Amino acid sequence: MKEESKIVTSKFKHTPVLSREVIQAISQLPATLLKKGTLIDATLGGGGHASLALEAYPNLHIIGLDHDPAAISAATDQLNIYGSRVKIVASNFADFIPKDKVSFILADLGVSSPQIDEAQRGFSFRLDGPLDMRMNPKNDLTAAKLIKETDEKALADLIYKYGEERFSRRIARRIKNDLCVNDSYPGTASLASAIASCYPPKFRNKRIHPATKTFQALRIAINNELEALEKLLTKAPNWLSPGGIFGIISFHSLEDRLVKHSFLKDERLERITRKPIVASSEEKSMNPRSRSAKFRIAMKI
Ligand SMILES: C[S@@+](CC[C@H](N)C(=O)[O-])C[C@H]1O[C@@H](n2cnc3c(N)ncnc32)[C@H](O)[C@@H]1O
Repeated sequence: MKEESKIVTSKFKHTPVLSREVIQAISQLPATLLKKGTLIDATLGGGGHASLALEAYPNLHIIGLDHDPAAISAATDQLNIYGSRVKIVASNFADFIPKDKVSFILADLGVSSPQIDEAQRGFSFRLDGPLDMRMNPKNDLTAAKLIKETDEKALADLIYKYGEERFSRRIARRIKNDLCVNDSYPGTASLASAIASCYPPKFRNKRIHPATKTFQALRIAINNELEALEKLLTKAPNWLSPGGIFGIISFHSLEDRLVKHSFLKDERLERITRKPIVASSEEKSMNPRSRSAKFRIAMKI
C-alpha cells in the first residue's frame, strides 16, 4: 500500500483498508456524476477514505456520517482543510436522510482502530477496560448491562447467532455463573480469560484469540450493527442518482452475507463485480485489519 493511505491524526490512528480499490471504484462513475458529485461516507471514522477521495477527485464533495463523537471530532480536524467541500453529520447511517441525490455511497463497516485500541471503550480483549463496547456513548446499552439483563440461554443464543461461536453454551454458563461478583461484572480482560478457559486446548488457535467471536457477538448486539446495515441496504439505493455507485466494505461473514444477497436481489442495483474485492497480499501483510475485508460494489440502474 502506498504511503499516502496511512492517515494519522493526533487523536486518531487508523489505516483505511482497500483505499486504492475505493479510489478506483469512484473512478467508475459516469463523468457527469464525478464532475460535480457528492459522496456519502456513511462510516467516516477519522476521515481516512474521505481525505483520499477528496485529494483524488478535486470536484468531489463529501457528506460524512458517524455516530461516535470521537470519530466526528477527529474527522472534523482531519477534513477541515477542505472547507465547504465537506459536511459532517453526527448520525447513525440507519437514521440519515439526504436532501439531494448523490453519486457514491461508501460504508466501511465495523469498528475503527482507535475504538479498539482505547481500553476505556471496552472493545478490546487484549487490554483491560470496562464492559462497554458502545460506538455511540449516548446509547444506554453497555456490554455490562446486556450481560446482566440477558439470561444464560438467551446469552448463549446471542453469542451463537452473532459470533457463530461453537462453544456459546459453555461460554454463556461461565459468564453468567462464575464471572459476576456482588452483582457486577469485572472488565474486558477477565471476560476474555473466562471465555478462553471454555476453549478445549485442541481448538485453540495461536493467531486468533478465543474471545474474538464472543466479543464480536456482544459488539454487534450492543450497537445493533446488523439491523443498521439492513436499513442502509434498504434505504441507500434510493439516495443514488442513476449510474451512482454503492460500495460496502465488510469484515465478517454475517455482514458480507447481507450485502451479497441484497446486491444480488435489489432491482434498483446492478452488481459491478460478482466476487468481493479483497486486499492484496502486500496490504494484508502491512495492515492485519485488511485480511478479512470484503468490498462489494453495485451501480444504481
Ligand atoms: C472502520 S471505521 C471507518 C474508518 C474510515 N473509513 C476511515 O478511513 O477513517 C468504522 C466507523 O463507522 C462508524 N459506524 C459504525 N456503524 C455506524 C452506524 N450505524 N452509523 C454511523 N457510523 C457508524 C464507527 O463509529 C467507526 O468510526
